[in-house]
Amino acid sequence: MSLVSGPGRGAGMTEMPAEMRLFADKHVRYIQSLDTRKDELEYWLTEHLRLNGLYWGLTALYLLGHSDALSRSDIIDFVLSCLHDNGGFGAAPGHDAHMLYTVSGVQILATLDAFDELEKRIPGGRQKIGKYIADLQDPETGTFAGDEWGEQDTRFLYGALNALSLMGLLDLVNVDKAVEYIQSCVNFDGGYGTSPGAETHSGQVFTCVSALAIAGRLDLVEHDKLGAWLSERQLKNGGLNGRPEKQEDVCYSWWVLSSLATLKKLHWIDGEKLTSFILQCQDPELGGFADRPGDMVDVFHTVFAVTGLSLLKYPNLEEVDPV
Ligand code: FPP
Ligand code: ZN
Repeated sequence: MSLVSGPGRGAGMTEMPAEMRLFADKHVRYIQSLDTRKDELEYWLTEHLRLNGLYWGLTALYLLGHSDALSRSDIIDFVLSCLHDNGGFGAAPGHDAHMLYTVSGVQILATLDAFDELEKRIPGGRQKIGKYIADLQDPETGTFAGDEWGEQDTRFLYGALNALSLMGLLDLVNVDKAVEYIQSCVNFDGGYGTSPGAETHSGQVFTCVSALAIAGRLDLVEHDKLGAWLSERQLKNGGLNGRPEKQEDVCYSWWVLSSLATLKKLHWIDGEKLTSFILQCQDPELGGFADRPGDMVDVFHTVFAVTGLSLLKYPNLEEVDPV
């Protein structure tokens, strides 16, 4: 599929049919508005996701070509205010450290190219964060816990390898052992779950395929079998679901599509129909995307709509790395 009518990206916007329009300026304003809603209950109900939300909003802004829509120094100040002495990040100041917030903290610093500032303000900060992550690896099985309470999940394994590779610190962990663990999670359909024997879910497929990509072991993936399972996620309305018999949801335009992109099988789904489904999930007046048409928008579905459109080569979007 190509929505680009000229010789490259950015061409042909004037020829875009109305139902295929992306309301980019509205999405930028929606993301900018998120931190100004402190009189709304939802703002405080989502405090436990603040650092993740900042990463999702920032990523969407970068892909929309508006990397300067939020203040870089304010972001760095906030991110570092979430960093604990033990090297882990919490969701917001005063919240407990956890792998998922630590990954978002590292991803934001990487996006802003701010590791030098981290070191200036917290000497040895990068190593400290790396050690927090490395200490969560289970030496017996190779997988990772989310925090000191010990819940394990392939999400944390992927997060660990991703954050460490962004910081150039993969050598702090046993990558071969982590790869062995992923192999123990493979199911009959070529997919992966949260742990050995757990049902294949496309979110977990994303984590395992991406972790294998970071480890340089994509040769271990059953490309055709998993590619077929992923392409079967597309429903008649063009949207993707996360596993058989489930409803479509815009966020699978990331979890499913990025896995297909990593396996170089993006053309195994109908990109035009998916693009149209994603665009139906946007709020054309106030900006933002919902999980499906007509629902309330949120920043989680907004970023994964935009990353999906980027993988689909929608005009005027920056390219996203599927891993
Ligand atoms: C819903 O499951 C879960 C999601 C929409 C998120 C899936 C994504 C992941 C597990 C990967 C996350 C990765 C990181 C690094 C944090 P459900 O069972 O409620 O939804 P369903 O009904 O659509 O299957
Ligand atoms: Zn969703």
